[in-house]
Amino acid sequence: MEVRVYFTPSELREEAVRGRTVIVLDVLRASTTITTALHNGARGIIPVESLEAATEIVVKLGVEGVLLCAERDVHQVEGCDLGNSPAEYVPERVRGRLIVLATTNGSGAVLSTRGAKRIVIGSYVNAGRVVEVLGKEKEAVLLCAGNNGGFALEDAACAGFLLRRLVDETGQEILPLNDGAWVALELGKRATRNPLRLLRRAVHGRYLEGEGFGEDLALCAAVDARPILPVLRDRMIVRSD
Ligand code: MLT
Repeated sequence: MEVRVYFTPSELREEAVRGRTVIVLDVLRASTTITTALHNGARGIIPVESLEAATEIVVKLGVEGVLLCAERDVHQVEGCDLGNSPAEYVPERVRGRLIVLATTNGSGAVLSTRGAKRIVIGSYVNAGRVVEVLGKEKEAVLLCAGNNGGFALEDAACAGFLLRRLVDETGQEILPLNDGAWVALELGKRATRNPLRLLRRAVHGRYLEGEGFGEDLALCAAVDARPILPVLRDRMIVRSD
């Protein structure tokens, strides 16, 4: 399988995604939160780039059954229903609800993939399902959301983890088509053993711990704990299974 890995959305060109399957990775924490919300019964998630856009959509949809969820600098934005901690997205809060989600990096990363054949949200918590998807593709793109426009270890390591698992489970040969894919594969050799330890070492993981979200790291490192496949369809992320 031919693979390209991009470590930030700014590296992505439309021609790189056109007609291809793209896996969007924002391990800490948007991908994990989205997957957790859908696993716990949310109807769908509309990713938006700004709080203003999120508020407009909620006003249009009407507040009934809709949750306005936004994070800035890892904290819940005042006046919103929820922030970006997967721990908040419990069945009692999200079942049957439509979520409008604005996060610093993750929502924008999802929206930057327009033109792709299929857009899948990937993380450690649904790793096995993502590997299944990759196993059926001849070529794919893994897009890391990164952190404030820069490289994020947790996303790159998760890309490597998924590719290594694909090799181990299917015996498929991976042909890296860009430098990012080479690096991710190498990183995958080391980073597969203990995702939680890696998240604790990553800059954003340490920042989250310092801001009181240390428990989120274990939720984000729980391999296969949320075995569903979130896909973007008509501007909304829904379960495809
Ligand atoms: C984001 O989408 O920017 C991240 O998930 C930030 C966070 O940890 O909340």
